[in-house]
Amino acid sequence: MTEIRVVPGNIVEAQVDGVVVNLFEGVTRPGGATGAVDRALGGEISRLIDKGYFKGKLNETFLVPTSGRIPADHVLVVGLGKSSEFDLDRVRQVSATAAKALRRVGCKRIATIVHGAGIGGLDPAAAARALAEGTLMGLYKFDKYLTKREENEAGELKEVLVVEFDAAKVPVLAEGVERGRVVAEAVNFTRDLVNEPANVLTPTEMANRAREMAARYGLEFEVLDREQMESLGMGAFLAVAAGSAQPPKLIVLKYWGADRSEPPIAFIGKGITFDTGGISIKPAQGMEEMKTDMSGAAAVLGAMQAVARLKPRINVIGLAGCTENMPSGTATRPGDIARAMNGTTIEIINTDAEGRLVLADCVCYARKLGARAIVDLATLTGACVVALGKVASGAFTNSPELLSKVKAAADAAGEKIWELPLFEEYRQQLKSDCADIKNVGGREAGAITAAYFIRTFVEDTPWVHLDIAGTARADKEQPYIPKGGTGVGVRTLVELALREAGRS
Ligand code: BES
Ligand code: ZN
Ligand code: ZN
Repeated sequence: MTEIRVVPGNIVEAQVDGVVVNLFEGVTRPGGATGAVDRALGGEISRLIDKGYFKGKLNETFLVPTSGRIPADHVLVVGLGKSSEFDLDRVRQVSATAAKALRRVGCKRIATIVHGAGIGGLDPAAAARALAEGTLMGLYKFDKYLTKREENEAGELKEVLVVEFDAAKVPVLAEGVERGRVVAEAVNFTRDLVNEPANVLTPTEMANRAREMAARYGLEFEVLDREQMESLGMGAFLAVAAGSAQPPKLIVLKYWGADRSEPPIAFIGKGITFDTGGISIKPAQGMEEMKTDMSGAAAVLGAMQAVARLKPRINVIGLAGCTENMPSGTATRPGDIARAMNGTTIEIINTDAEGRLVLADCVCYARKLGARAIVDLATLTGACVVALGKVASGAFTNSPELLSKVKAAADAAGEKIWELPLFEEYRQQLKSDCADIKNVGGREAGAITAAYFIRTFVEDTPWVHLDIAGTARADKEQPYIPKGGTGVGVRTLVELALREAGRS
C-alpha cells in the first residue's frame, strides 16, 4: 500500500528517488517549485521548453536525470494542459500519470507538489484530495493471479511525499489527502471485487467480503438467503437465481450517522456475479466480460465503506442483490411468470433481462425498510452502451430534484452521467398479455424501457437509476483508470452522501 504524507519544506531538497514538478501549456519560464527545480538543474527544464521537447500538454511527461545535482535521481515534469481548462479532474489525472511514470522507472519514494493549488487557483484542500485520489486510483493493479511478474515491471511505490513550502498550509492539505485516500481505497476495493473471476467471487464470497468490510469499518451487516427471500415473496429475484448451483444473497448494510428515526437514503446495486443470459443464453464471444455484471453491487459496497469511514450525519442503507444467472434444468424459462415482493406479476420474455428482476425486489425491500430516496446502479443494458458509449453512465429518474443532486455530486467527483427520458409513452412497450408487466420492451429504447421497468416498482419514492453497463469496465487504460473494473459510481455515491449531510 502506498503511503501519502504531507510535509513542509523545499522539494529541491527532498530525500527521495524521484521528484514531480509541473508545467502549464504555453508557459515558457517555469515558476514556483518547478522554477526552483529548474534552477537546481542548471536550467534544464527551461531548455526542454525552449527547444520544443516539452510543451506542457495535459498528461505529457518528460523524465530528466538529475546526475547528482539534487538528492533525487529523477525529475518528472508533467504537463497540466491549458491553465484556462484546469480543474480538479485534471489534478487526478496528472497525479496518476506522474506516479505511474516514476513507478515504471523503479522509484520507491517520490515527492510531489500539489498540482493546481498555486497558480492553478484551486482550493488547496480540494486539490490535495484530488491528488491523493488520482495517485492511489492510478497506481491500482489487479495482479494477484500473476505468478510471474513481468520483467520490466518495477516494484511498488511505497511513499509519496507531498511537499508544501508554506508550513501553515500543511494541516489543510493533510486533511484533503486523508479524504482522498478514503475515497480511492473504496474505489479500489470495488475494483478488486469487479476484477475477481466468477469462480472466486460467487454471491457467497461477495457476502463474506461485505461482512469482513462491515466488521472492519463498523457497519451493520445482514444477509438474506434463499429461504428468507422466499418468505418475503421475492419471486422476481429468485427467478434469476433458479438456474444456479450457487445460492443467492441479498446483502444489507446499514450506516447510522443520524438519529435512527430519520429515514435513510438507499443505495442499491445489481450483483450478477456471472451473467450467461440463462436459457436465453448469450453468444460465446465476449461472454467473459459478464463476470463484471456485479459492478453496481460492488460500487454500493465500496461507497458504504467510504461512508462508514467519513461518517456523514445521515442514515444510509446499502443493498447488493447478488446471484448468478445460469441455464440449467431448474432455470427459469422464457414465458415463465414470476411474482415480485409487491405482488406484481412479471412475464419473463427473455431470461437475459435479469438485472431488472433482481432490482425490482431490491427496490421493494428498500421501500419496506423506509428509504426516503433510492439510487440504484446496474450494468443493465447493452442499449445504454450503444447510446452513450463508455464515456458516460445513463441516468434516469422520477425526481428531477434528486437527479440534480446526483448530477452535482457526479460532477464534483469527476464521473460523467447523462439523463435519458422516461416518457410515459414507453410504458406500453412493457405491456404483457398474461401478466402485469413483461421484462423486455423490444429493441427500441432498450435502456429506457429497462429503467421504466424498475420505475414501476419504485412508485412514489424519489429515485435515480444509473445504467453503468458502458462505464463499469474499461478496455483501455486512462490516467487514473486501469483496464478492467473502473469502480464507477463509488465516488458519486460518496459525494452524494456527504452533500446530503451538508458536507462536501
Ligand atoms: N448484463 C447485461 C447488460 C450488459 C451488456 C452489461 C453489455 C455490460 C455490457 C444485461 O443483463 C443484459 O443482458 N441485457 C440485455 C437486455 C435484453 C435482453 C432486453 C441486453 O442489453 O442485451
Ligand atoms: Zn443479462
Ligand atoms: Zn446482466
